[in-house]
Amino acid sequence: MRGRFLVLEGVDGSGKTTQARRLVQYLTDQGRRPLHLREPGGTALGEKLRRLLLEPGREEWHWSSEALLFFAARRELLTTQVAPALAAGRDVLCERFSASTLAYQGHGPDAAEFILALDALVVADRQPDQVLILDLDPLESLERAGQRGLFDSFEARGLAFLNKVREGYRRYAEARPQNTRIIDVSGLSPDAVQLRLIEALETLPT
Ligand code: TYD
Repeated sequence: MRGRFLVLEGVDGSGKTTQARRLVQYLTDQGRRPLHLREPGGTALGEKLRRLLLEPGREEWHWSSEALLFFAARRELLTTQVAPALAAGRDVLCERFSASTLAYQGHGPDAAEFILALDALVVADRQPDQVLILDLDPLESLERAGQRGLFDSFEARGLAFLNKVREGYRRYAEARPQNTRIIDVSGLSPDAVQLRLIEALETLPT
């Protein structure tokens, strides 16, 4: 069995974590022994960088420095977790990956080019087999995140920021059409979203 590298993306409140758990169950039921990861994190270095980057109320850093830190966490995860699991024939399901860096850090002039170039260098030929982006109306996502009452340093930036995040995801999908799908989840139940995700996975080679 060939391991497949699957990425689930979307703003907080898009249902990413719920859907990731369901997909892990679905893949397990298929006998695929999935490894569930999330970014930033999943390694000792990644967890340290996560605390640094997501600390609520921290000072602002230049987007390019943030991007480099996210890519450092990513490279550590790729080499120590993702690559060995794929080599052992396991599927990897990762919550967030390079599309998040484009979506969250990619707003400045030339930022998208910088981040896509970093991705080409750091991720190189270990690109995901499939990136599924859960797309949600920013107003709905603010509502859902607000109900949970928790905002990290990125989420606390409000509606204008979330609109840019959405644009960044679209930009990623345009840059990587061969392995990326945007799935509109506005107003959909978790069951309906799950069906769409499974449909997308079923088109992948096993
Ligand atoms: P997390 O608590 O995992 O949020 P979520 O449940 O929304 O995935 O926090 C991840 C945060 O880090 C989220 O606000 C997006 C941000 N982020 C970036 O800004 N750039 C990146 O490259 C990644 C991976 C995450």
